Amino acid sequence: MMADYQPADSGFALDRDCKTLTRHVLEQLHSFGPEAQDLSALMNRIALAGKLIARHLSRAGLMESALGFTGETNVQGEAVKKMDIYANDVFISVFKQSGLVCRLASEEMDKPYYIPENCPIGRYTLLYDPIDGSSNVDINLNVGSIFSIRRQQGDDLDHTGADLLQDGHQQLAAGYILYGPSTVLVYSIGRGVHAFVLDPSLGEFILATEDIRVPSHGPTYSVNEGNFWQWEDAIRDFTRYVHRHDGYSARYTGALVADFHRILTQGGVFLYPGTTKKPEGKLRLLYETAPLAFLIEQAGGRASTGHEDIMGVMPGEIHQRTPFIVGSTDDVALVESFIQDHSRRQSTLLST
Ligand code: AHG
Ligand code: MN
Ligand code: MN
Repeated sequence: MMADYQPADSGFALDRDCKTLTRHVLEQLHSFGPEAQDLSALMNRIALAGKLIARHLSRAGLMESALGFTGETNVQGEAVKKMDIYANDVFISVFKQSGLVCRLASEEMDKPYYIPENCPIGRYTLLYDPIDGSSNVDINLNVGSIFSIRRQQGDDLDHTGADLLQDGHQQLAAGYILYGPSTVLVYSIGRGVHAFVLDPSLGEFILATEDIRVPSHGPTYSVNEGNFWQWEDAIRDFTRYVHRHDGYSARYTGALVADFHRILTQGGVFLYPGTTKKPEGKLRLLYETAPLAFLIEQAGGRASTGHEDIMGVMPGEIHQRTPFIVGSTDDVALVESFIQDHSRRQSTLLST
């Protein structure tokens, strides 16, 4: 009688290569129930979108009409890159027939895209920034995609997407894809933050790091100092502080996802404060700052407008912007301390 087959001790490598994203989601939830299957399928679709965009980016320099501007201006008032539209449409294509979502809300679309009647309609909403860091696209520097998944609440029959105007705690999942020397997918479904690396030879995202924890402090401060004279005094004083104190270094790539990934993994603080031109800042709540706030809190860090947690902000409209201070608890608190000092001084002056 042959003994039962025992797989050879294939060691870490084979087992790790089998730890795909879809399997990881189900393991995270310790469940194979309908919602777990939905989340696993949603993440699988996100992964497919990431692979398609990574492939297009890797060959963009060789392809007609892949790079450069479309000549259009989007709802943000920003010049649109061809890659923005390509990536925007990739997400629509991979979700349209999935039966998972009822609509997609994107930085590139004034109103949400509703899944057509002749397609299977799901009960989730994908909110996304298809290409983050567009200014880097034509010069082969890091760009990313940011995503957030929410459950549809109500029926939204008037197609206004009003039920999307909820705070960040309504997010079921959030994450980003960073297109760099390797393509990295970072996500959370509320049970820690996990990073996967795309193995092009397998066409699979393979688990690389589980339960990422952001250090309580880090040396990096990441901000566009070209806006210095447009900031409120408190932010200028914070900048002067880090200039004068040892142990800080500036890193800024122009792509939020890349700067955030550095902060998430090594600690420090990223800021996009309000400016005189954009008092609410440049970054958008529903598909940039709220998903990243979800992640940083899951990793033990913080995300603030300077006055309140990003996760608590109730949006007034889909493309609402917020100031953004995100990263290590100690470093976010340091920035907030300058803001609080200035508020105290202001109120003292006003009361005299
Ligand atoms: P997007 O390309 O999606 O519009 O995002 C660009 C954002 C963000 O990625 C980055 O941190 C910031 O814009 C850079 O803005 P500045 O060039 O004003 O610093
Ligand atoms: Mn962006
Ligand atoms: Mn974008």
